[in-house]
Amino acid sequence: MKAKNNPFLIKGYVSPKLFCDRKIELQKLYGNVTNGIDTTLISPRRLGKTGLILYFFDFLSKQKEIQTIYLDIYSARSLNDFIKLLAEAILLKFSLKTSIGKQFLEFLKGLRPLISYDPISGEPQVQIVYQSVQEKEYTLRGLLQFLDKQQSLIVLAIDEFQQITDFPEKNIEALLRTFIQQLKNIRFIFCGSKKAMMVDLFSNAKRPFFASTQYLSLDKIESSVYTNFIKNLFIKNDVKIEDEAIDFILFWSKRHTFFTQSLCNMTYSIADESVNLDVVKKACLELLKQSETVFFQYRQLLTPAQWNFLIAVAKQGEVKQLTAKRFITQYNIGTPADAKRISKSLIEKELLLETTYQTETVYQVYDVFLSRWLEREY
Ligand SMILES: Nc1ncnc2c1ncn2[C@@H]1O[C@H](COP(=O)(O)OP(=O)(O)OP(=O)(O)O)[C@@H](O)[C@H]1O
Ligand SMILES: [Mg+2]
Repeated sequence: MKAKNNPFLIKGYVSPKLFCDRKIELQKLYGNVTNGIDTTLISPRRLGKTGLILYFFDFLSKQKEIQTIYLDIYSARSLNDFIKLLAEAILLKFSLKTSIGKQFLEFLKGLRPLISYDPISGEPQVQIVYQSVQEKEYTLRGLLQFLDKQQSLIVLAIDEFQQITDFPEKNIEALLRTFIQQLKNIRFIFCGSKKAMMVDLFSNAKRPFFASTQYLSLDKIESSVYTNFIKNLFIKNDVKIEDEAIDFILFWSKRHTFFTQSLCNMTYSIADESVNLDVVKKACLELLKQSETVFFQYRQLLTPAQWNFLIAVAKQGEVKQLTAKRFITQYNIGTPADAKRISKSLIEKELLLETTYQTETVYQVYDVFLSRWLEREY
């Protein structure tokens, strides 16, 4: 009999037992925190940045002298939203029963906020009414200074940090950088998936955050490590799995964490007592079937030339030279200039993933399942 809960997570984080590897990354983050260094964490989408932060925070939770705060600013459209989310994250972190929580509430009251609680999640919601830009800046500084003066060291992770570049306020980067520079007691982890934007934010000498952090690039989990992880989780949860089946899982999902986890999750969910190659293949088809509606929608949203281009890349698996004559002739893409223009727009839409290594750049369809589906359908 299988255990009740599927051990392969496809969202969030539960415990180190269900989390694969990332030991080196954890040590790096820990080293940075203890050495007073802020970190910029980058990887393509769904490779495990948020998971890594939560895994790291779980590790730090055993240390009383460090407090962790997770702030996701994906939904923030302005400085106002940023402040609101930061205040909510702090409220969520420090229970109002603790002395820090009480102090924070006192601090907030000074800002005349409206505090309510989400009826479904029970999480605090903060609304602050502002009059002027100065007041906003004053509040932001106040929030950070409040954290800074706590006894414990604070690790503040800001997920989807590149979002601040879309804020209408022009000076937001300079403002944040100035405030952050004055803090002694907070270590930052700036996290994001839009690599070009993140790198520009932190490596462009003309921008305020230039050279202020250390980079940590998340890569795919190593093959042998992932293999052992999958094997052990199946066995521990009462299902035998053949080596060949695991190899196929890693191959088909291209070892891209979310897709590998999804395939393992589906395989586990349809398995009886044992898994062979056929069971995994059935799981693959099931996953493609589930996503088909979304894939058809993509097609609606793209021009025929863009769609054709995606099919071409999917068929190739990965492409090194998008403008190479052989590639564009084989798939009727047009001129090299067409290939450039189409690929640029697909990269902007996050449908094509551009990975730059030391000596070469490689292009793939971003969504692994879409890639597998295009490969089969066309
Ligand atoms: N090391 C890991 N072991 C097992 N599962 C993981 C691991 N890392 C991430 N996951 C799972 O993979 C999925 C994607 O991870 P996560 O959300 O952390 O990616 P992300 O890089 O933050 O993505 P995005 O850029 O879209 O925010 C999640 O369901 C998570 O549970
Ligand atoms: Mg994330």
